[in-house]
Amino acid sequence: MCGIVGYTGEKPAKDLLIQNLKSLEYRGYDSAGIALQDADGLTVLRRVGKVDGLAAAAEHLEDASTCGIGHTRWATHGAPSERNAHPICDCSGKIAVVHNGIIENYQELRQELQANGHTFKTDTDTEVIAHLIEEAYEGNLYEAVRQACLRLVGSYGLAVVCAQEPGRIVATRKGSPIVLAHGEDGSYVASDIIAVIKASRDVAILDDENYAILEPSGITYKDANGKDVTPHIMHVDWDVDVAEKGGYPDFMLKEIHEQPRVIRDTLAGRMVNGHLSIEELGMTLDELQTIDRVYIIACGTSYHAGLIARELIESWARIPTVAEAASEFRYRNPVITPSTLVVAISQSGETADTLAAIRLARIKGAKVLGITNVVGSPVARESDGVIYTKANKEIAVASTKSFLGQIVSLTLLAMELAQSKGKLTTAQIRVLFHELADTANQVEKILSDTTAIDEAAQATKDAHDAFFIGRGMGAQVCREGALKLKEISYLHAEAYPAGEMKHGPIALIHEGFPVIAVATKSPTYDKMLSNIEESRARGAMVIAIATEGDEEIKKYADHVIYIPRVRDAFMPITATVPMQLFARSIAIARHCDVDKPRNLAKSVTVE
Ligand code: AGP
Repeated sequence: MCGIVGYTGEKPAKDLLIQNLKSLEYRGYDSAGIALQDADGLTVLRRVGKVDGLAAAAEHLEDASTCGIGHTRWATHGAPSERNAHPICDCSGKIAVVHNGIIENYQELRQELQANGHTFKTDTDTEVIAHLIEEAYEGNLYEAVRQACLRLVGSYGLAVVCAQEPGRIVATRKGSPIVLAHGEDGSYVASDIIAVIKASRDVAILDDENYAILEPSGITYKDANGKDVTPHIMHVDWDVDVAEKGGYPDFMLKEIHEQPRVIRDTLAGRMVNGHLSIEELGMTLDELQTIDRVYIIACGTSYHAGLIARELIESWARIPTVAEAASEFRYRNPVITPSTLVVAISQSGETADTLAAIRLARIKGAKVLGITNVVGSPVARESDGVIYTKANKEIAVASTKSFLGQIVSLTLLAMELAQSKGKLTTAQIRVLFHELADTANQVEKILSDTTAIDEAAQATKDAHDAFFIGRGMGAQVCREGALKLKEISYLHAEAYPAGEMKHGPIALIHEGFPVIAVATKSPTYDKMLSNIEESRARGAMVIAIATEGDEEIKKYADHVIYIPRVRDAFMPITATVPMQLFARSIAIARHCDVDKPRNLAKSVTVE
């Protein structure tokens, strides 16, 4: 969603800010803007649409400024328009603010500030922050921002500049990430590591309600009482090239092809002297043994990984497990006791609903295990233990490699729980682990020849709707397949447990209606064949994802996509890959931007 950048140093700020805003484009946005400090005060430029449009508009600006802030906005309060784009100024135009998050009490603050004579020029919640800083400003920007924040209810990541304080940026946060780096040419702030790592691999992660005061020579950190503090410094070891496409036409394809590496990296170091090792769980064997219920909470693709994990945990560890959308969980009154384990899954580690669900679970006394891809993210910091998926930065909005990283991590967790409960022996765990590791080779094989997938995509590209059907693990994989297709190709797709089709959805089937069926060799294979027949008898065009060597399936399907034989527990890893490629192939054929689908944001930091 929204993105923040800021720079103060020796170099011209304009191009640096625009370049750094471009690195945040993957998050999704609808407008962008910059505020530059110069001899005349502040120059603010905002545009609806892509950062390229902002860059073109900024060409006429001089390169004199060496300090400024920038923003990509994903509209929440106020339509996507130039006047609602950030940076947003106070009445005098001397203070400019960029803001990520939502100010919940903005209406009452707005009324109060208007009564005090402030004139509002936007429909945003953010504007109250600029006017509150203006009210509190007495020559010290840090102090004024601090005073303003005392009045705010909600979440925020902020960067602020003031015409009267040349070369200075004040940043703060509550519930929305802010990271900082000092490099040879100056000081940088952003809401995402990717926009600061070119300055330094050692990135400061600002704590909630702490402040950073950036100057060209360095960054000072303070808490809400004005006391100097030392931030947590994270060394970033992933490749800067991650932000480049590396020869692929889009990030989505590049990330799909990284999946064998993700599986290998996620498993690296997990089998030590023949024993499974997940030290980061943060739980003793006694604690693991007392777990009598598991809740898995997540959103979107991460929730789908949770549904797969539910099958594994119940089947192997025999612990009752519920997987639930975090947005629902947070407003229910779930049965949680100190012996409940809550597993929170989030690629970004900053999804607002997942964070709220974590907080609820902890208040109720549960241990929370976070599974995230982002080191130092809010999910990592608010959980009792963390397992990091080793996907590296995921740029395409549609999650692919992070999903596989999550499934592999959750599979390890299920094995660990089963072992601690005495339901799987060490020997059984070793066999499972080796088969799990082998899925990296199987995914490589799927990626090596996509002819059948592309043919099936060609046959589907002009459809209006599609069904994804499966049973057991297959039903869960279908949810992800349908989500991938709708989010990047805008083709309406629904996932149904195959046995449910005759209870309603089959009414929609007509001649040529695409039905994608996961029909791999599993305990319910024969049932799947019957379900496929039911759809085909009504005219469906069936695309089957089947196990290599299965000749029989050809009698039931118009197109067959073969995947290598794996045990049913690991089928989600292999079956997901053709579904990702299928969705991408259709999206490309429909001329869609596969990396930046409309209306979507990479991190959903608002409710
Ligand atoms: C799926 O392709 C999307 N990226 C989306 O559903 C995503 O999985 C969801 O918003 C949750 O994000 P998170 O994993 O970062 O919490």
